[in-house]
Amino acid sequence: MTESFDAVDIIRTKRDRGTLTPEQIDWTIDAYTRGVIADEQMAALNMAILLNGMDRAEISRWTAAMIASGERMDFSSLGRPTSDKHSTGGVGDKITLPLAPLVAVFGVAVPQLSGRGLGHTGGTLDKLESIPGWQAHLSNEHMLRQLADVGAVICAAGTGLAPADKKLYALRDVTGTVEAIPLIASSIMSKKIAEGTGSLVLDVKVGSGAFMKDVAQARELAETMVALGKDAGVDTVALLTDMSTPLGLTAGNAIEVEESVEVLAGGGPSDVVELTVRLAEEMLACAGVHDADPAAALKDGRAMDVWNRMIEAQGGDPRAELPVAKESEVVLAPADGVLVGLDALAVGVAAWRLGAGRARKEDRVQAGAGVRLHAKPGALVRAGEPLLTLLTDTPDKFDRAREALADAVVIAPEGSRPAQQLIIDRIA
Ligand code: URA
Repeated sequence: MTESFDAVDIIRTKRDRGTLTPEQIDWTIDAYTRGVIADEQMAALNMAILLNGMDRAEISRWTAAMIASGERMDFSSLGRPTSDKHSTGGVGDKITLPLAPLVAVFGVAVPQLSGRGLGHTGGTLDKLESIPGWQAHLSNEHMLRQLADVGAVICAAGTGLAPADKKLYALRDVTGTVEAIPLIASSIMSKKIAEGTGSLVLDVKVGSGAFMKDVAQARELAETMVALGKDAGVDTVALLTDMSTPLGLTAGNAIEVEESVEVLAGGGPSDVVELTVRLAEEMLACAGVHDADPAAALKDGRAMDVWNRMIEAQGGDPRAELPVAKESEVVLAPADGVLVGLDALAVGVAAWRLGAGRARKEDRVQAGAGVRLHAKPGALVRAGEPLLTLLTDTPDKFDRAREALADAVVIAPEGSRPAQQLIIDRIA
């Protein structure tokens, strides 16, 4: 087959800050998926994109080409609106677990395709797999049936969805090119658009535990993704939310499921409840439901009923005991005062080193491992009181976890206040 372009010309164009034509972009994604563009060439192009950027039209075409590399799902046969949420990833971010069944209570179907954790951010599938029997891999037919019967499904994305992104993401991961806004935005949105959701709410995390460390970068990413969603006919809204400290009081797998079930039972930490309710309101509004009261559905057990049915529909036993770590160690508060900082990245790395996360895709995670928080920023603490509990099955991991936490805790004199606001901005 005669190729329409030459990879080296395309790399040079981006290297020299030029703009790629739609035809060049279509060919690049297709030729890389077919193996005609070599990994080293694509790595060079990714680095040129990271350094020199892409304009909106280029990003939009790049996204469309990645969607076209695979199948597109279609939920129109359900006869009801669909909505999905995507978080850019953080520490203790278990929101998908209570959110999907909560939104389904109001007749909006939630097809939530989720991933596994890599590095310090946890993965929704790893968390749910701590429930005995629960299955992440479903056929498209199962997914559609469950959406019709239960209204919510959380499962692994099939291999047919945006295959170009799978290959590209693995390459970016090992070439220092993950953190390019055009590449992150097109990667996330190609999968969400191919998934076929009618509307989408993005939770773009900002802070030490997130990809985006400052609000300006996070806003640019959010604006880019919202524009891509709208261009593709998906009603898309983004919230910028704080990830300078973990969400809730747990970071791990089984312990995050336990906390999610507390939220579904009408309790749970106030930040997890606030964000779950706010994202549910946004998803419902995008799907055209304006008179719902999601907070009430957490309190009166309706969301819990859908959760139980959702877990059972995927082979899980929602009433089974969750795995518990074999060993634990407590970290004590070093001084009296107000806890003004508890660093999300440090807690995420500690949970990962304790066995909750994986360093390579093929690693197994420990269901019971992680970090429990006994105080959140804003709390008054006394020297010697328990601040964190470290959990693992392999006690030789405690030392490295403690090292990660060395500078994580900031205690200030009484009367101080942490500079914290959970929901920072909304972009529509
Ligand atoms: N998540 C994705 O799916 N892709 C990225 O590029 C970054 C986060």
